[in-house]
Amino acid sequence: MKVLVTGASGFLGSALVRALAARGDAVTVLVRQTSNCSAFAGCPVARVTGDVQDRDSLARATRGNDTVFHCAGRVADWGPRSEFYRVNVEGTRNLLDASCSAGIQHFIHVSSLVVLGVPRTMPVTEMTPYATRYFHPYVETKILAEQLVLDYHARYRLPATIVRPGIIWGPGDTTIFPRIEQLAGKGLLVILGRGDNVLCLSYIGNLVAGLLRAAAVEQPDGQIYSIADEEQITSRAFFAALTAALDLPPPRLTVPFSALDAAARLCEVWARLVRSSQAPLLTRLGLYLWGTHYIADITKARQKLGYRQQVSFQEGLQNLGAWYRQQYKPAASRDVKEL
Ligand SMILES: NC(=O)c1ccc[n+]([C@@H]2O[C@H](COP(=O)([O-])OP(=O)(O)OC[C@H]3O[C@@H](n4cnc5c(N)ncnc54)[C@H](OP(=O)(O)O)[C@@H]3O)[C@@H](O)[C@H]2O)c1
Repeated sequence: MKVLVTGASGFLGSALVRALAARGDAVTVLVRQTSNCSAFAGCPVARVTGDVQDRDSLARATRGNDTVFHCAGRVADWGPRSEFYRVNVEGTRNLLDASCSAGIQHFIHVSSLVVLGVPRTMPVTEMTPYATRYFHPYVETKILAEQLVLDYHARYRLPATIVRPGIIWGPGDTTIFPRIEQLAGKGLLVILGRGDNVLCLSYIGNLVAGLLRAAAVEQPDGQIYSIADEEQITSRAFFAALTAALDLPPPRLTVPFSALDAAARLCEVWARLVRSSQAPLLTRLGLYLWGTHYIADITKARQKLGYRQQVSFQEGLQNLGAWYRQQYKPAASRDVKEL
């Protein structure tokens, strides 16, 4: 494949670039001037410096490729709606336009199971309707981006596939994982409610394998696939195992979900009042992701893509622990020394 990966410097994009390069695909990456590209250093890739908001750079990046993996996005639990909209919606529209002009044969859009919000009925499937109440602009803009992809497929016959992961976890995560580490280090990691809610997890290696399977679909016709790990892990089990694997203090205190929900709302109101650019310690997006029961039915991905969870939860933890000790901690202490 001649493939473009956007968001190549991110957690998912860099893992995908490594996997594509390892199997010999011709990989082009779209990165920003400021992107840290160390996570795919040494991989033979063609680099285009640009931005999903810069249409010229997207024309250069898509030219000559046949497949696009769109992993770039504004992924955060805080920030103004306009920022999420510019990157997740307008950025996706720009890339779709460039892909149509370049004659891209398969556009694989990385969405999120968050587009379904906090559904009442489990398990969710690809038929579950979108959330109608958005507790965060990330949710709204990920829905709008999906709808754009479906629209371009319907109107311009752009061959497209949408993949919806759960919470992505594993070695290389520089978004969610440092936050958990910070909370655990301060003794603020608590058991969320009863802690018996099943988390919708997508281990990075399993997800990358799922994306490669999605890319192999012969006649992409705008299908949506939920891709998540098959083992059912509760939040209590996840945080206990994670902290044990990383030698961090385990969560001991149990806090009712309703109290955490009220605290998250207060934290958000306060952060908005003081116009904080920093995410508050607790947000509803974070709380709902980790504190609610969420099971995705992945039958469609199993049947149509042949997707299977390849890496078990225990193996994933071992890989995360090794990365934490060998790469993450040494790099973090180097950063401190350099300051
Ligand atoms: N993390 C999760 O748990 C999760 C779960 C479900 C779905 N997803 C989806 O998976 C995708 C990848 O997420 P991730 O966890 O890998 O996030 P990430 O580590 O934050 O990576 C985001 C990537 O997008 C790039 N980016 C941001 N704004 C851009 C812009 N204006 N132009 C070009 N590139 C831009 C970033 O570049 P810089 O390095 O320059 O900032 C980075 O490479 C996203 O679509 C996200 O919505 C994530």
